[in-house]
Amino acid sequence: MNSVAFYLLLLLLTSAATSTTATTIGVTYTTSTSSPLSPDKLAAKVVSMNIPSIRLLDSNPTLIRAFAYTNVSLFLSVPNPLVPLLASNRSLAMRWCYRHVLPFYPRAKISTISVGNDVVSYSPDVSPFLLRAMQNVHLSLADLRIYKISVSTTFSFFNIVPTAFPPSSAQFQEPNGEVIIRPILQFLERTNSSFLVNLFPYNMYRSSFSIPVGFALFEEGPFNFRDDLTTGVRYRNLFDMMVDAVISAMAVMGHENLPVVVAETGWPSSGIDGGEVDATLLYSEMYLKGLLGHLRSGGGTPLRREGVAEVYVFELVERDDDGKRGVRNWGLLHRNLSSKYGFEFSGCGGGGGNGRRFAEFLVVVMVCLLM
Ligand SMILES: *[C@@H]1O[C@H](CO)[C@@H](O)[C@H](O)[C@H]1NC(C)=O
Ligand SMILES: *[C@@H]1O[C@H](CO)[C@@H](O)[C@H](O)[C@H]1NC(C)=O
Ligand SMILES: *[C@@H]1O[C@H](CO)[C@@H](O)[C@H](O)[C@H]1NC(C)=O
Ligand SMILES: *[C@@H]1O[C@H](CO)[C@@H](O)[C@H](O)[C@H]1NC(C)=O
Repeated sequence: MNSVAFYLLLLLLTSAATSTTATTIGVTYTTSTSSPLSPDKLAAKVVSMNIPSIRLLDSNPTLIRAFAYTNVSLFLSVPNPLVPLLASNRSLAMRWCYRHVLPFYPRAKISTISVGNDVVSYSPDVSPFLLRAMQNVHLSLADLRIYKISVSTTFSFFNIVPTAFPPSSAQFQEPNGEVIIRPILQFLERTNSSFLVNLFPYNMYRSSFSIPVGFALFEEGPFNFRDDLTTGVRYRNLFDMMVDAVISAMAVMGHENLPVVVAETGWPSSGIDGGEVDATLLYSEMYLKGLLGHLRSGGGTPLRREGVAEVYVFELVERDDDGKRGVRNWGLLHRNLSSKYGFEFSGCGGGGGNGRRFAEFLVVVMVCLLM
């Protein structure tokens, strides 16, 4: 075999293996207040599970430090109560970056800072401060000569998009759409940042009697589709519908090309009360596996071929109050870090690790056979 043919083969095999998905799949982690895990133990577990990315809902510095020298990228959050302070005082924004970013970056791969989480429902008084707080964090990072961290904020689907049926006619809820979201979209566009949204098909399924559970769980079935009559597009799962509703709402404001990051998604394994009959361990497993399979298939959504840029599964570890009366139960892992059900993060997201290794293995085998 001549060397040109060899390199063509190599190219073909590695591109086939690495183009499995454009979406990075990570997890969220919330520190337990009563019996927190050791940060080093957490980081080691995340590395051993091949999870490429983690969203730290409580971004305390010891947790960030634990991820230094790992290849896990970090999504940090500024707590909601700090938003008005960082908005009105630039030096406080600088101080936040001094404490949470400067000592660790770039050894800790901080990729994103979300200024607030679902501030719209947290407090209508705080929402007007969002943009200014984001600007102050962005400017502080620039003062520190850090340009590669994306600064954004996280919205919650249900508090900004009133309906996802049909996705093509979705719009942001007013008055927040014009007053809060439009200027933020401009900021995101200008700074090459992404639109971050918490998106739970479980909630939409619960709020509408006409949605079959299989449609929410990525199951194929005779009734598991919805047509968007305006665009003529057929949806096979609720997740894609909700993502496209977000993209349509951004398009109305002229920002249809902003990358979308799903900052939280998941399915609870038990509900607040006996009324949540679909909050079961089986369904939470089906949702996770369906989601991972769908994202890895690399098909994107009907309105966006490359799909969402990143997805964070809520949540890595069950919290100690999970499953108690009045609290939903989440978590891929028990508190002792054993898995609740079998699933594989490896081979997805980031570098497409296993696929690439397999391709390299194939090349070696073929070269050996041909020589
Ligand atoms: C991180 O990734 C780089 C480049 O892929 C690799 O050289 C390095 O060994 C990795 N580090 C760890 C701790 O996995
Ligand atoms: C801003 O915060 C700094 C640091 O805490 C403080 O010294 C300063 O007085 C604050 N400025 C205003 C206008 O509140
Ligand atoms: C945004 O990305 C584009 C294309 O990758 C690049 O040309 C531009 O400099 C970036 N802008 C900023 C503010 O990073
Ligand atoms: C971890 O905790 C779960 C739930 O409490 C339990 O079922 C499981 O046996 C535990 N595993 C280990 C290795 O201790």
